[in-house]
Amino acid sequence: MTAAINRTPLASDDDWWRSAVVYQVYVRSFADANGDGVGDLQGIRERLPYLRELGVDALWLTPFFTSPQIDGGYDVADYRDVDPMFGTLADFDAMITDAHALGLRIIVDLVPNHTSSAHPWFRAALAARPGSAERERYLFADGKGEQGELPPNDWESIFGGPAWTRVADGQWYLHLFDPAQPDLNWRHPEVRAEFEDVLRFWLDRGVDGFRIDVAHGMIKAEGLPDVGFNSMTTGRRQSELLGKGRLPYFDQDEVHDIYRAWRPILDSYPGGRMAVAEAWAETPQRLARYIGPDELHQAFSFDFLDATWSADSFRKVIDTALAESTIVGAPTTWVLSNHDRQRHVTRYGDGEVGLRRARAAALLMLALPGCAYLYQGEELGLPEVLDLPDELRQDPAFLRTGESRDGCRVPIPWSGELAPYGFSPEGCELSWLPAPATWRALSVAAQTGVPGSTLELYRAALRIRHEHPALAGTAGAVTWLEAGPGVLAFRRSAGDTVLTCAVNVSGAEVVIDGYGRPIVASAELTEQGGGHLLPVDAAAWFERR
Ligand code: NOJ
Repeated sequence: MTAAINRTPLASDDDWWRSAVVYQVYVRSFADANGDGVGDLQGIRERLPYLRELGVDALWLTPFFTSPQIDGGYDVADYRDVDPMFGTLADFDAMITDAHALGLRIIVDLVPNHTSSAHPWFRAALAARPGSAERERYLFADGKGEQGELPPNDWESIFGGPAWTRVADGQWYLHLFDPAQPDLNWRHPEVRAEFEDVLRFWLDRGVDGFRIDVAHGMIKAEGLPDVGFNSMTTGRRQSELLGKGRLPYFDQDEVHDIYRAWRPILDSYPGGRMAVAEAWAETPQRLARYIGPDELHQAFSFDFLDATWSADSFRKVIDTALAESTIVGAPTTWVLSNHDRQRHVTRYGDGEVGLRRARAAALLMLALPGCAYLYQGEELGLPEVLDLPDELRQDPAFLRTGESRDGCRVPIPWSGELAPYGFSPEGCELSWLPAPATWRALSVAAQTGVPGSTLELYRAALRIRHEHPALAGTAGAVTWLEAGPGVLAFRRSAGDTVLTCAVNVSGAEVVIDGYGRPIVASAELTEQGGGHLLPVDAAAWFERR
């Protein structure tokens, strides 16, 4: 087993987020302490030592606030309380106290674009008349057609179907996601004041940062103009433009006023409180506008999620993200998997091939400068669960589009011989989604201390990333090397110490020579001549001092 990372609890560095490794906890599926088959805050608290030992710097917790759970908690009914399913505010306080004592920072998810339809504001809006003050906090509008029977415009929900739902008195309300997630009217001063207060509520409780959900969505173009096409009219979904084109409901210039108001609030607290945007914009330049000293600290760079297993594709993603970060002088963020996308083991081919490639991709990502976001279970090499029975799927998009994100949200395996493999206490057999039998061999206990396991690979890589002068902090720009076709290689250095990361995407073994001694590898290397044979779909870090 690798040695624990040598860090003082909560080192007081306001710039910690620039090079942090953040571990995404999908709260429902991380650890269940009370035996109801659903993960909870106490479960996270009990597993903090595991995360410290793994070597991450911070946790991002997906929404655990009071919610009917129509969209896995991204439908919040009370922004200042914990859903009983996950525990209590006291559990949160105990968890964050323990996390900080272990040197782990906590980022919480803020969902400002929409509330739950069970939020008191929306209930009041439904009970009130068209044109009332209560309706002003959301986006209610009259329909088109003679009787107002047609939606106010052609906007489409990201989950499929129209983005408008009609209420009993004939008006329509906007929901860019599920009908149970009505969009707020961010031109309303009460909405702005409310979220500034919610920020302070969690900052006062000690959170180190926020992940801002749909950060590009809060402002809609004046007059709510049509897009001009949608899947009902042309068969083409508007969401295809996410990250590629302009939509009147995303990335409007006015949204930046909101972040300019938030930043002084974050800065007024000690210890480097940060915010990361889940934002989609047409160009890297427009995405970069969310980041900076007067707005947010980071915006996820999602391009890795779409990269294919090829040197060109990876190189393009990395160059684009690095260029983006130089535009604003803020660090890049890297993401290989999250709770919305198929796990990368499966994206890269599933089975043995997928796992081999996923392990190599982890070494590629962790050698890059900036901040890396890990999704729970990737350190175990978990694949997507592709064969969940339809009746167990809970993703609201499933019914509308047939696409479901449940396969990456299955509770992770900790130990033992029987499902759910230590996710719940002994004797509890039913987790909210069932883990496949193959996950017994992938549990934390099954991989701990096993040389070559994916878990030990992550531990080793994270330890080196923290301690190695060429990788630590934001030091060491990326210099690409010519290493032959299908080999992606770059180096980073600190003084005379050089670290080279080489990834073999060529489809054949390659000899790597001249980069020094290997210090970690995703597959076994063999010496050949003065160099090393790097197997197919493998990556390694080499060091020269
Ligand atoms: C992005 C979140 O990551 C996703 O899970 C959620 O469904 C939507 N935003 C809506 O809140």
